[in-house]
Amino acid sequence: MCDYHKEKGAPQKRIGILGGYGSVGVEVAKSLMATTSHKILLGGRNGEKLGLIVEKLGTGVASMVVDVYNQSALGEFCSRCDIVINCTGPSRQVACKVALTALQQGCHYVDPADNSLYNALIEKNEVVKQKGLLFVISAGIIPGILEVLPMYLVNNKLDKAQSLEYYFVSYDRLSFSSAYDIICGFLSEDDAGMVYYEDGRIKKSSFPMKNMCLPQPIGKVDTILTFTDSMKDVVEKCNVSKCHLYTALGGKSTRKALYDIRLSRQEKTESQMASWSNLLVDAMDHDLNDRKAGNMFHLIITGEKGGVYKKLTATLFFKNGFRLMGIIAASTARLIIDGMGHDPGCFLLHKGIHIGKMMELLEESGICVSQSIETL
Ligand SMILES: NC(=O)c1ccc[n+]([C@@H]2O[C@H](COP(=O)([O-])OP(=O)(O)OC[C@H]3O[C@@H](n4cnc5c(N)ncnc54)[C@H](OP(=O)(O)O)[C@@H]3O)[C@@H](O)[C@H]2O)c1
Repeated sequence: MCDYHKEKGAPQKRIGILGGYGSVGVEVAKSLMATTSHKILLGGRNGEKLGLIVEKLGTGVASMVVDVYNQSALGEFCSRCDIVINCTGPSRQVACKVALTALQQGCHYVDPADNSLYNALIEKNEVVKQKGLLFVISAGIIPGILEVLPMYLVNNKLDKAQSLEYYFVSYDRLSFSSAYDIICGFLSEDDAGMVYYEDGRIKKSSFPMKNMCLPQPIGKVDTILTFTDSMKDVVEKCNVSKCHLYTALGGKSTRKALYDIRLSRQEKTESQMASWSNLLVDAMDHDLNDRKAGNMFHLIITGEKGGVYKKLTATLFFKNGFRLMGIIAASTARLIIDGMGHDPGCFLLHKGIHIGKMMELLEESGICVSQSIETL
């Protein structure tokens, strides 16, 4: 167990969680309560829902009614915290509002939002640095731990990496906010699919689909080749010369919903976005009639160790995605507040925290990566 776990005599800080009764917010609060003795301030716009969740969580949790569109209430909330974890959503709607207020009030900031928030915030990087703050965006699953895992494995288990074959599969409930954000990402990343990375270039593939047999309990699954800017950053940092990333979100119903959404994307109004988000939530629920919920990361990495060619296979499976999200965001906040983040600035998760310490905290919370290494 880490020596900074509920460390006796460590200065108590206040961690604010906005969206405190949302699917991720609740899990962040539970994870922090189980692992730290810092004070927690939950924020949300519905006082009744806040009261219920505070009662459930027990002592050590305070709450404040705050609508993030109410600037003075948001300012007051942030001014009471050393760090704010923003779990309000959809994050594409909330955008920079909370981050900019946290910056104004001088508190650190954690957000599971995707790279679009990072791209919008990076122009404030100098101010974040001057104030000695750490802003970590994408403290979630995808993006988030998706990028952390290969960096951890390559840096800690091999001397040199050559190729990475990576599978991420999620059969899990979706909240309205996460469905909304997934659709925004999906509609804006036309070229992210059907490509792979090789020798510094993104290349089109003639084989974009793969039926893969992953370890149980996932087993056989249809996956689609995809790639992201943050994965490009990871493979370049790890000197991987070839990377194929395959993902699968749900089964047939989810794929059909996403296909239908793409077909009618010209009608992208707010009310259409809301009805697509509900469609995606329902489609995922429908797919869960045939399969149990679960999220799997499966990596096959080739490279060298001690001058010998090796194949490293690693798998992380976690049933409940909201819990996994909560643990990742809470662990990120703990690393920052306990002084184990990087130097001040605005970062994506794989660059903003100490990756080895992150993996220790995840393990402490029951998130384990099974690994095997063989000589080729
Ligand atoms: N990186 C990843 O892998 C990943 C994974 C999952 C989720 N996420 C992101 O995390 C965010 C939260 O997801 P979630 O699943 O927890 O969503 P959720 O269950 O819909 O919760 C969103 C929360 O935000 C609150 N909220 C909305 N508007 C607000 C406002 N104006 N003021 C205060 N609170 C407000 C909602 O409260 P009300 O009930 O009052 O509306 C709710 O508590 C999403 O943006 C999602 O995209 C990222």
